[in-house]
Amino acid sequence: MMTPAPRWRPVVLASTAALLASGCPGIQSAIDPAGPQAALLSNLWWFFLVVCSVVFVLVAGALFYAILHRRQQATADPLPESDDRGSVRAVMAGTIATGIILIVFLVASVGVGRAIQPDPDSDPVMVDVIGSQWWWAFRVHGATESETFETANELHIPAGRWIRLELESRDVIHSFWVPNLQGKMDLIPGTKNVLWLQAERPGVYRGQCAEFCGIQHAHMGLIVVVQPEDEWNRWVEHQRRPARAPRTDSERRGQQVFLTAPCVICHTIRGTPAGGNVAPDLTHLASRRTIGAAILPNSRGQLGGWVLDSQHVKPGNRMPPIHLESGDLHDLLAYLESLK
Ligand code: CUA
Repeated sequence: MMTPAPRWRPVVLASTAALLASGCPGIQSAIDPAGPQAALLSNLWWFFLVVCSVVFVLVAGALFYAILHRRQQATADPLPESDDRGSVRAVMAGTIATGIILIVFLVASVGVGRAIQPDPDSDPVMVDVIGSQWWWAFRVHGATESETFETANELHIPAGRWIRLELESRDVIHSFWVPNLQGKMDLIPGTKNVLWLQAERPGVYRGQCAEFCGIQHAHMGLIVVVQPEDEWNRWVEHQRRPARAPRTDSERRGQQVFLTAPCVICHTIRGTPAGGNVAPDLTHLASRRTIGAAILPNSRGQLGGWVLDSQHVKPGNRMPPIHLESGDLHDLLAYLESLK
């Protein structure tokens, strides 16, 4: 009599399939490419997956065949005459096939590795990426030094253009990785690495530091926004400008709070005396989607919690708790939220 299949089996199968399907596309996925370099890497990944799956099925099949065959033999004749020629041939064939597959993988990897790191002559967008524990500074170069500006944790790039990222680190080794756009590249103190990429599909993508760099490594995220070129030009135009001057009494008081609190030692707000360069540039803070290096949405509540006690949110980060009266905090938040 056949025993019925356990009831949980379809549930497990369905959830596994759903999990696999839902884990693939998305804003931080190497197999949902939004540009040619990521597409090459994604194709390479699928090629590896298909070949390795076929190898796995063949090896598992051979293993089961061997187990069953041996059992039958053993039952028929416990001590058969040994004839290993077949086995030797099978092992040799397996070894040769493995060697060929590994060589094919090597050639494919090297080919893709070269293809994703071109050095085109076309006029690229030049961006310096500076990694620190645990956030990202982006210096977007203009035609002149006065047109160059800095922002943090959120980079906008134009679709279709070449982007040249020059990567450096202020402290330890980090790794810049925006899976939908390109492979990983390390940021190494004392040296500069260059990563080229192109994005084709406008959208918002999430990146992640991919090299263990200390206690908050996992919270060293970033956002890359790919925009049509005219939209991107407007973004650049806006980011280059100094901060908007405070307009209400609350914003004016908030600016004073900022300039008299420890904030001013580390952060820059262009157009004010705040010129610290060890923490994110806040000139256009309110234009960003997230705070804390892509770990929290940029809302008033989250910002307030961050200012008062960022150590609670992201322990070990360099920002000390800021003690403020509730009125001062209210004004400071009004000012920070005005920095569009
Ligand atoms: Cu920076 Cu991990």
